[in-house]
Amino acid sequence: MSGDVLLSGERLGHRYLDRFPALDDVSLELREGEALALLGANGSGKSTLLKVLAGLVPCQSGTLTAFGEPVSEEALADHATNARFRSRVGLVFQNPAAQLFSATVEEDLRFGCRQLGLDAAETGRRVAEAADLLGIGELLDRSPAHLSVGQQKRAAIGSVLVMSPQVLLFDEPTASLDPRTADWLTGLLRSLRDAGRTLVIATHDLDLAAAVTDRCLVLGEDHRPAATGPTPAVLADQDLLTEANLVAPSASRHPGHPPSITVERR
Ligand SMILES: Nc1ncnc2c1ncn2[C@@H]1O[C@H](COP(=O)(O)OP(=O)(O)OP(=O)(O)O)[C@@H](O)[C@H]1O
Ligand SMILES: [Mg+2]
Repeated sequence: MSGDVLLSGERLGHRYLDRFPALDDVSLELREGEALALLGANGSGKSTLLKVLAGLVPCQSGTLTAFGEPVSEEALADHATNARFRSRVGLVFQNPAAQLFSATVEEDLRFGCRQLGLDAAETGRRVAEAADLLGIGELLDRSPAHLSVGQQKRAAIGSVLVMSPQVLLFDEPTASLDPRTADWLTGLLRSLRDAGRTLVIATHDLDLAAAVTDRCLVLGEDHRPAATGPTPAVLADQDLLTEANLVAPSASRHPGHPPSITVERR
């Protein structure tokens, strides 16, 4: 990888409420233009790591550097530093409802443009472009609270894409999507990568990781890095995948379904 290092975390550690461990001694480097998958079992710390990288959860130990500047609570307390950082790093939450708070989807998309201080013409252009890209034109005047989770997900992605951040962090982007929509989103993430965006994708969807990412960081259930390497090598390591609880041992994959049961179709 030859691009500049955009984000770098060194020996990051976090415990919620000083009690619940979420990250322990995690180091990573994210280079311009690369796509990194964060893999790991439920509760291993993927979402926490994304929130740390997005400057939303301060680490109790270790250091985070973004675009050559330290990221800390003190640094982000400065308005100009905060605005600069937030315009360059965007996080799409695991729970899309958590980032949709306006009366309509369109207002949620406009909100990000307002944060950037964009004028009305540029805002209109970006909202229309994101709505078109995500196929949410029909949803613009709807209340986000009344959308299906899959629709909310597309709206939440739109609310981040309008800001056009250089680094895009996606938390379980294909979860709750039907297979056709998940496929379409995989294609969208690939095209973002091909267009030069830098991506970090936390996911249980190994097909997504294979299709979009160059490299994987696997978090173990002890919240420490269990492995890191090129995506094809990580995904070919069955022992690692089983140990990190990324695939179920084949014998227990479909428990309780004896082959004698048949499915009736209309
Ligand atoms: N707000 C919180 N307060 C207390 N503990 C938390 C909080 N958020 C997460 N945790 C704990 O931190 C650990 C890591 O959680 P995290 O959500 O980062 O895992 P994850 O890898 O994203 O899991 P999943 O695959 O289920 O999304 C878990 O043990 C979780 O219970
Ligand atoms: Mg998570």
